[in-house]
Amino acid sequence: MKKRPKIQNSKFKTQHSNLGFASITSQDNFNEQVKITPHASPIFTSSTYVYESAEKAQQVFRGEEEAFIYSRWSHPNAELVENKLEQLETFGLNIEAKALVFSSGMSALAALYQSVLKPGDKILAQGNIYGTAVDYFNQYQEAFQIDVIFADFKNLKELESILKAEKKVKLIYAETPSNPTLNCYDLKALSALGKKYKVKVAVDNTFASPYLQQPFKFGVDFIIHSSTKYLNGHGTGLSGFLIGRDVAFMKKEVWKIRKLNGSICAPFDAWLLNIGMKTLSLRMEQHCANALAVAKFLQSHPAVSKVNYLGLKEHADHALAKRQMKNFGGVLSFELKNGYKAGEKLMKKIKFCKLTASLGTIDTLIQHPASMSHSFVPKEQREEYGITDGLVRLSVGIEDVKDVIADLAQALK
Ligand SMILES: Cc1ncc(COP(=O)(O)O)c(C=O)c1O
Repeated sequence: MKKRPKIQNSKFKTQHSNLGFASITSQDNFNEQVKITPHASPIFTSSTYVYESAEKAQQVFRGEEEAFIYSRWSHPNAELVENKLEQLETFGLNIEAKALVFSSGMSALAALYQSVLKPGDKILAQGNIYGTAVDYFNQYQEAFQIDVIFADFKNLKELESILKAEKKVKLIYAETPSNPTLNCYDLKALSALGKKYKVKVAVDNTFASPYLQQPFKFGVDFIIHSSTKYLNGHGTGLSGFLIGRDVAFMKKEVWKIRKLNGSICAPFDAWLLNIGMKTLSLRMEQHCANALAVAKFLQSHPAVSKVNYLGLKEHADHALAKRQMKNFGGVLSFELKNGYKAGEKLMKKIKFCKLTASLGTIDTLIQHPASMSHSFVPKEQREEYGITDGLVRLSVGIEDVKDVIADLAQALK
């Protein structure tokens, strides 16, 4: 007769004690002799961490020993993704950087603002950065006494004259590629201006992800990510990163702000972000290939007057994007010949593409800014930044591209 396989017992031996019933149920007494080595990272939802001795606790609180203390300060799920981003943003560059993960892209931006600037300072910001970043700089101008100067970052001469005249500018804030006409800005030139006038340069790298663009290569000081987008990639959870070349500054000043504001990414969201980051390179390759195919389809469509995609030779910034980026990304926008009405009609007819305002997910997302995200912005104001009545934005996913094209074809009829 065959021998029955031995049934595995629990790794955790039942520990008998004199504790009461409720005390037993309240304890998490792992057997410390058993080393736990999971293949995939668990979620560390514990708000605090315990120390093996009073001496160790003292050393940790005195800063002589590194250990987790309290999850508002840091936790293993945060450090796992921070370490990954540090490696990705410095990949092949032989430089050091420190990343901190936040509860959203906006809280990463708030930490940059609070750590770099003080009352009386000024920000020189690109006019067409993410709308809520514009709102943030405007809203806090008075309360923090930090003025913002918006400028066209294509016009480097104008930027230099502003920097010459405005000695209080302490931060240059850029976003490339930018929303919604997919402009590309010259990071090398912006960094050179920053160095010349001793001004820190920060760039929002959300649209590209570190797979397509490494801003540190061109000399910038800080990179921001809304990792809610491509880094997570699945539209699950919110998170953001601030990563800086000045490791000591990141560890002291930015760390302090995250700890005091309580703006660290929660363990569950950091855990989801980590799962997303595992497939970043594969996803970005597919996003780029699909976006190019969709851009070419739209270019030849009679209802479309213009396609904004950096991968098209016709885009004014194609050459710069080719120098600065590995590939051209997954987001594009296009203009409908029949303006607002055509945009509204397209949104009503679309089936496969998801009607929503975000970007960077594995499925294709579509939106008509004039009737959706920017409907509350006066027409003249939105048109200044290329948001015309007939503009449609598409974040192309990684599906079979024929299905995306077929959906657009039927909706554009
Ligand atoms: C380019 C860019 N930067 C920053 C943000 C803000 O990120 P979050 O929504 O994660 O706060 C967004 C959000 O859409 C964005 O698109």
